[in-house]
Amino acid sequence: MEQARKILVTAALPYANGLAHMGHLVEYIQTDIWVRFQRLIGNDCLFVCASDAHGTPIMIRARNDGIDPEKLIRHYHDRYKEHFAAFHIRFDNFHTTHSQENRDLVEKIYATLKTGGHLDRRTIRQAFDETEAMFLPDRFVRGTCPRCGAEDQYGDSCESCGATYSPAELIEPTSVLSGTRPVERESDHLFFRLGHFEQALRQWVTSGALQESVRKKLDEWFDAGLQDWDISRDAPYFGFEIPDMPGKYFYVWLDAPVGYMASLMELCLRRKDLDFDDYWSPDSNAEVYHFIGKDIVYFHSLFWPAVLQAAGFRVPTGVFAHGFLTVNGEKMSKSRGTFITAATYLDHLNPECLRYYYAAKLGSGVEDMDLNLEDFVQKVNSDLVGKLVNIASRCAGFIIRLSDGRLADQLPDPDLHASLCNAAEAVAAAYESRRYSKAMREIMRMADLANQFIDRHKPWVMAKQDGQQEAVQAVCTQGINAFRSLIIMLKPVLPGMAASAERFLGEGDLQWNDIGRPLLGKCIRKFEPLMKRIDPKAVAAMVEASRENLGPSPADDSQAGQPAETAADEITIDDFSRIDLRVARIISAEPVEGADKLLRLELDLGDSRRQVLAGIRSAYDPESLTDRLVIVVANLKARKMRFGTSEGMVLAAGPGGDEIFLLSPDDGATPGMKVT
Ligand code: MSP
Ligand code: ZN
Repeated sequence: MEQARKILVTAALPYANGLAHMGHLVEYIQTDIWVRFQRLIGNDCLFVCASDAHGTPIMIRARNDGIDPEKLIRHYHDRYKEHFAAFHIRFDNFHTTHSQENRDLVEKIYATLKTGGHLDRRTIRQAFDETEAMFLPDRFVRGTCPRCGAEDQYGDSCESCGATYSPAELIEPTSVLSGTRPVERESDHLFFRLGHFEQALRQWVTSGALQESVRKKLDEWFDAGLQDWDISRDAPYFGFEIPDMPGKYFYVWLDAPVGYMASLMELCLRRKDLDFDDYWSPDSNAEVYHFIGKDIVYFHSLFWPAVLQAAGFRVPTGVFAHGFLTVNGEKMSKSRGTFITAATYLDHLNPECLRYYYAAKLGSGVEDMDLNLEDFVQKVNSDLVGKLVNIASRCAGFIIRLSDGRLADQLPDPDLHASLCNAAEAVAAAYESRRYSKAMREIMRMADLANQFIDRHKPWVMAKQDGQQEAVQAVCTQGINAFRSLIIMLKPVLPGMAASAERFLGEGDLQWNDIGRPLLGKCIRKFEPLMKRIDPKAVAAMVEASRENLGPSPADDSQAGQPAETAADEITIDDFSRIDLRVARIISAEPVEGADKLLRLELDLGDSRRQVLAGIRSAYDPESLTDRLVIVVANLKARKMRFGTSEGMVLAAGPGGDEIFLLSPDDGATPGMKVT
């Protein structure tokens, strides 16, 4: 047998001022699956994490809530722990960056950086809020973009034109804390000389630690030149004070990744069999992997390995970045009810369904990933209930009734079992390289084969014939064993279902190698349904519970009809971006019986078709419209009209009558394109 690998895995440390949501879960589920897989194949794999407790946003939030930051971070720390556990995310330790272990490590690292000559003290000018008596992070200053004139932009970049700048360049800057205009003040800061580590970083990058696309990004950053990194912040700040600089604190992004080490350190205090240095000393032969989101690649692929290098620790074996989650094709949105927290999900649905869906969609790259709620219901129901659980439920009853629960002593179709063993190798390789979607496809292909085997032999027909009892037993033993092999392969993804299946099979903690050792001549227990179909109503209820109304709707507003207090004729860019405008092709147009203004348009939106009833009959001959491209409001709530349902709206200009002018994109646009 191969030597077990010694592995330490981390997932990014979630900020302790919010609740876990569907986006976070992409990461923690992805990582947990990988860790469970490593253990299942016999590797020695630790999984540590922590909550990220420091920084200005947490300090401000606690202040606004009128509580101590310690209380705030404790609250969210506990919520994370609870919700992650409910999603079967099983850390060996979930610590906090606001801990003695972390403080000790950060101070030690600081001392080494300092004596190594990697720190530089400099005076900088920074926005200062005189009312609040504090320096403002870039994100706490807003104003008009100096490049394009867009109002209400962050102090570091413009969401409208993409320009980056410093808060001092904003036109009409204001502090988001007090609403007053910040002044510029000088302050001493500490800089980490990142450039000292360029050679070491370039070397590390060639070691294969990074994904291809991340490596390319790093090349760009090297070409642009590595800037020194400001690792200090002025009081008031919630974090660790710098030992020899009273009133100055370590920037949260310095102590956050050290939290990975601190979490292991604290675990080592409790687990005497573990040794911190085995993992972090420069000559460690353990593997260390960080799973992160694509937004924090810079911190993990430049600052962090450089700091580790400077402080005399080993560097990570790999940094694995994943993309961002969208829900129903768009950024998660409170108004659409798609900003779904882990807690709300758990109120309505089974956590393993989400684990499976994410696994079925995750690859090894940094591409964004969509949680399409309709597809979610369909995929989970068809794969897990329709294919997987079905194998066991079709076979178990016969074994119990006709053979007293006893499995046959032999498999009637050893080739089918051999195919499963072969597939298991491909599945293992896919897990190892984080191509979970490939693993799930392979598993479902084998589930199809198993179901076809049962269909071919029809145990339900044999069971009615005399003298076929053994044949039924044999077929169902094969079926149950196929199910068992698939459940082992799915164990990293569906640990809860696997545990129930182990009870049903009368087995203990199954390991990957057990796939090659079929279960024969043993007794199984009564079969209890392992998973229920998802009811689309539960999904709808979850979305409804997640919806946050952005103010009262006109209908239930007692002051309906009164002018609103805010400038009602202005909308924000966010309001605008809620309108989903798409290019569509008119497939056909016809007059609507009994409605002299309406045409019934059949539209092609690329991935779907819609019927829209448009009041354009007075201006257009229906036949002239076929094949024409138009712009449609694709997320307009469908309206039931006397003449049918209209599922959207096409855009046109003009006063009406015969002066109606449909808007069309230039040549080259195709149906489904988003209009922005
Ligand atoms: N505290 C930092 C990480 C410090 S690591 C030393 C942080 N916290 S976070 O709470 O904002 O995010 C935690 C992780 O969740 C990050 O890896 C982030 O990329 C990931 N995600 C947060 N929202 C996400 C999506 N919508 N989609 C996918 N992952 C997302 O960053
Ligand atoms: Zn701009």
